[in-house]
Amino acid sequence: MRLDFHSHILPKMDDGAADAEESLKLLKLLKDDGVDVVVATPHLYLHKQDMDGFIRKRGESANELDRAVKGGDYPQIVVGAEVYFSPALSGLPLKELCVAGTGHMMLELPCESFSAAFLNTLANFLSACEVNIILAHIERYFDYNKPEVMDEILSYGVLAQANCDSFEQARYRKTLFKLIKSGKVRLIGTDSHSAERRPPAFGKSERVIRKKLSDDTFEGLMKTAEDILYGKLLK
Ligand SMILES: [Fe+2]
Repeated sequence: MRLDFHSHILPKMDDGAADAEESLKLLKLLKDDGVDVVVATPHLYLHKQDMDGFIRKRGESANELDRAVKGGDYPQIVVGAEVYFSPALSGLPLKELCVAGTGHMMLELPCESFSAAFLNTLANFLSACEVNIILAHIERYFDYNKPEVMDEILSYGVLAQANCDSFEQARYRKTLFKLIKSGKVRLIGTDSHSAERRPPAFGKSERVIRKKLSDDTFEGLMKTAEDILYGKLLK
C-alpha cells in the first residue's frame, strides 16, 4: 500500500488545486505512481482565518471533490490540515484538525532560525498538546537551524514528514537519508499543489529511497502511514 501523507489537492482551499479539475489531474498523477491513499492537508493560518470557517470551507471543498471523483479510479482521499504554528492553537479543539479518524495533526513551522523565545513557546505547546504532532517537511528547517535544535523539537514525541520532491534536491538529499536511517523521518508526502507548478513526485522518491536506502526502508515509511491511518500508532 502506498500512502501520500501531505497534499494540497482539495479545490479552492489554498495555494493548491484551483478547482476540482486540477484536483482530478493531481489525483490521476498520484494514481499513476501507484498511490492508494492521499491525505489532503490544506493550509490553515490562524492569523488569516478562523478555525470554524476553515472547517466549514474544507467540508464544502471535500464534498465538491467527492462529486467530481464520482467513484472514478483515484486514490482514496482522507482529510486533514497543515496547521501553521501559533500560540493561539493552545486551547482549540485540535482533534478537528487531525487527519480524519486519527489523533495526528500536521504542523508547519516558520522557515527561519528559531529564537530561544520561539522554542520555549513551541515546547510549551508540544508538551501540553493533546494530539500527536506530525512536523511537515522537516528538511526545510535545517536550512535555518542546527540539527540539535531539530532534535530538541523531535524529543517532544513529534513525528517528522519529508517532502518527496526534496529527494531530488542535492541540498536536502543527504540530510534526508540520514534522518530516515536514524528513524527521525518516518513519513513522506508529495506536498503537491498543482499538476504544472508543483506536481507530485511520489514515484521518483520511491525509486530513490528503494535504490539508495532499501526496499525495507520504503515499506517502513508506508507502514508508519498505514499505522497512523488505521489507529495502530498513537505516538
Ligand atoms: Fe504543504
